[in-house]
Parts: sequence; C-alpha cells; structure tokens
Amino acid sequence: MDVLEAIRERRSIRKYKDAPVEDDKLEKVLEAGRWAPSASNKQPWHFIVVRDPGARNTMANQHTYGRFMAESPVVIVVLGDPESHPKYHLADPHNAVQNMLLAAYAQGLGTCWMGVRDTSIEPKFKQLLDIPDKYRVICCVSLGYSRTTPTKTRKPLEDIVSYGKYGQEK
Ligand SMILES: Cc1cc2nc3c(=O)[nH]c(=O)nc-3n(C[C@H](O)[C@H](O)[C@H](O)COP(=O)(O)O)c2cc1C
Repeated sequence: MDVLEAIRERRSIRKYKDAPVEDDKLEKVLEAGRWAPSASNKQPWHFIVVRDPGARNTMANQHTYGRFMAESPVVIVVLGDPESHPKYHLADPHNAVQNMLLAAYAQGLGTCWMGVRDTSIEPKFKQLLDIPDKYRVICCVSLGYSRTTPTKTRKPLEDIVSYGKYGQEK
C-alpha cells in the first residue's frame, strides 16, 4: 500500500472483530515501530504486547476512553525510557506509535491510540504489567480487525500552514 494512502485513509478503530492478529503481522507492526526516527538514534522506547484477555479487561476497566481494549485481541503498551534519552523519551515513542498505526493499516488491521502518560492510569498499568519504575507509560494502542469504517475530517491546509512567515499565504 502506498504510504500516502495509508496516512490519508487510516482511522481510529474502536470496534473489533473476534479474530486473532497473526504473529507475522504483529511483528511487522513492531518492526515499523523499531525503525521510527529518534533523537540521536537513542530509541528510548519499549513495547509490551498484551494478548491476555484478563489483562486487557483490567486495562479496559481502568481506561475511561479505552473500553474497547477488552475487545481488541492485542494491546501494545508503549513505554518511554528516561535513562535512554532524558530529553526525548516522552516525544520519541510517539514517532514509533505513528509508524505502527500505519503499518497496521497497510496490513488490513485497525488500531486506536490511547493516551496514558500523566493520568491516574499510568501507575495502575505499571503495577499490572510489572513495568520497572524508571519507565514512563506513554500510551497504548489497540490492534485487531475492524468491524467499523469510521470517517473523520481535518482542518483545511490554509488554516494550519503559512508560507515564508507566519500568517502569509502562498
Ligand atoms: C495522544 C493521543 C491520545 C489519544 N487518546 C485516545 C483515547 O484515549 N481514546 C480514544 O478512543 N482515542 C484516542 N485517540 C485517538 C484520537 O481521538 C483520534 O486520533 C482523532 O479523533 C482523529 O481520528 P482518526 O484517528 O480516526 O483520524 C488519541 C490520539 C492521540 C494522538
């Protein structure tokens, strides 16, 4: 699939079919995260793949805006490592997440990005998944086969782009 098509057509999926995600597809998603750019190439991230229904149910109950984790067969929990990069350990994992969303979409899989960092959920996820203290839990991503085709709009380019100097039109 063309990368521009994936960027344009990917949508957040919050309803999933009762069908497992194949290991080879999951690995390609994780590989896409691995190849994301990071400051000084420090790669200050770690990904926890959660398939266990019990753990997913617990996370779904803890995350007000992520109830569908109970339904998606996979959840990827994304950590940031401050020891690896003190300044960019919060930002760089997001690059990996975006790559993963696109790699999933290109393989016919749906995803939804859910924020975790700096919420009351962060310590709960740490406890549930035995995450060492040093890490930050940046976010989690549901992964599975979609049973919806949602649509979304975006602001027009002219509202978010200037040319030459702020506020100047092309
Ligand atoms: C940092 C971040 C946090 C998000 N947190 C949630 C969330 O907790 N629950 C949820 O359902 N969607 C969440 N989303 C998904 C956004 O709502 C979604 O990307 C946005 O509405 C645009 O829709 P689209 O992804 O379908 O284009 C999050 C997205 C980002 C980037």
